[in-house]
Amino acid sequence: MAPELMDDFGRRVRYVRISVTDRCDFRCVYCMSEEMTFLPRAQVLTLEELGTVARAFIEMGVEKVRLTGGEPLVRRDIDHLVAEIGSMPGLKDFAMTTNGAGLVKHAKRLREAGLGRLNISLDTLDPERFRQLTRTGELGRVLDGLRAAREAGFDRIKLNAVILKGRNDDEVVDLVAFARAEGVDISFIEEMPLGDVSDHSRAETFCSSDDVQALIERQYALIPTTETTLGPSRYFRMADSDSRVGFISPHSHNFCSTCNRVRVTVEGRLLLCLGNEHSVDLRAVMRRYPGDLDALKKAIVEAMPLKPERHHFTTDGNVQVVRFMNMTGG
Ligand code: GTP
Ligand code: 5AD
Ligand code: SF4
Repeated sequence: MAPELMDDFGRRVRYVRISVTDRCDFRCVYCMSEEMTFLPRAQVLTLEELGTVARAFIEMGVEKVRLTGGEPLVRRDIDHLVAEIGSMPGLKDFAMTTNGAGLVKHAKRLREAGLGRLNISLDTLDPERFRQLTRTGELGRVLDGLRAAREAGFDRIKLNAVILKGRNDDEVVDLVAFARAEGVDISFIEEMPLGDVSDHSRAETFCSSDDVQALIERQYALIPTTETTLGPSRYFRMADSDSRVGFISPHSHNFCSTCNRVRVTVEGRLLLCLGNEHSVDLRAVMRRYPGDLDALKKAIVEAMPLKPERHHFTTDGNVQVVRFMNMTGG
């Protein structure tokens, strides 16, 4: 029997988020600084190493794997990795979080390779504002990408919207209406203090999930559910739609007590929590003991006691974690 991954607070790790690149074709204002330098190739896990990491976790009882970035679709040959992980026995939920810009090219192949679910970041429906928030992105490409994903027949598609007061909080209802029209779910996310963003003051733009919910409820009644995707979203239903509305509220409704996940950065750092720096270098283990899955599993098991009880994010605008989100894997 493979050892179960359990931390010191009795939380079982069933979900791993694997970042496949720190690169991105967008520069979202809450995620990256305008001038980013990216990692040299030698520091980045190879596709083979990424597959090995996924295999080790799945063999230790992890049921859900999400590929993140940066933007996963800018990683060359990502489809090969998806096909490899998609065929691993024991995996129940295989998902990706993407900015959507590459989906016209990739959606069909990803689906055929075994990817089940897609989360697509979409903070605004206004092309000009989209450009401001992503700095380099083009809304039309993402909307085309969403449609390509719908045609490809994914099990579920979810939109992710980070809401910033004064920037896009006036679009909350429109975003829900859009999700309903497209037949997809949508989650609203409170911004987290990762990386020193120069674009805005996080203290001033903070918008709590309760405020977002109140805006939505002016238009749509929200019915609480206990449905879960094993992620942090609290889901609500609407009477006349299949779309769900979720809230990811790291500040206002802390969800750490039910945390079931860890992250692997593209450098192979196993991060036990998004909100602090406790980590173990899995790349070093894999490069020291190539092909030795047991050595890798042992390192993962031994990392579990490092998982802290919770993050200590505040909304005062101070950076709590120096690493940017694109280095973290979201
Ligand atoms: P589903 O599988 O669809 O539930 O997705 P997910 O919410 O698990 O993943 P997604 O990549 O869509 O992440 C949405 C937001 O939730 C991002 O801003 C993540 O950074 C954030 N998030 C995911 N897991 C955690 C976590 O453990 N702690 C915190 N603070 N934020 C998280
Ligand atoms: N706070 C909250 N969410 C963020 N994301 C990126 N940076 C931040 C941040 N600082 C979101 C993206 C994407 C998901 C992986 O994380 O919009 O949907
Ligand atoms: Fe790129 Fe996603 Fe970060 Fe935006 S949030 S810059 S799309 S990694």
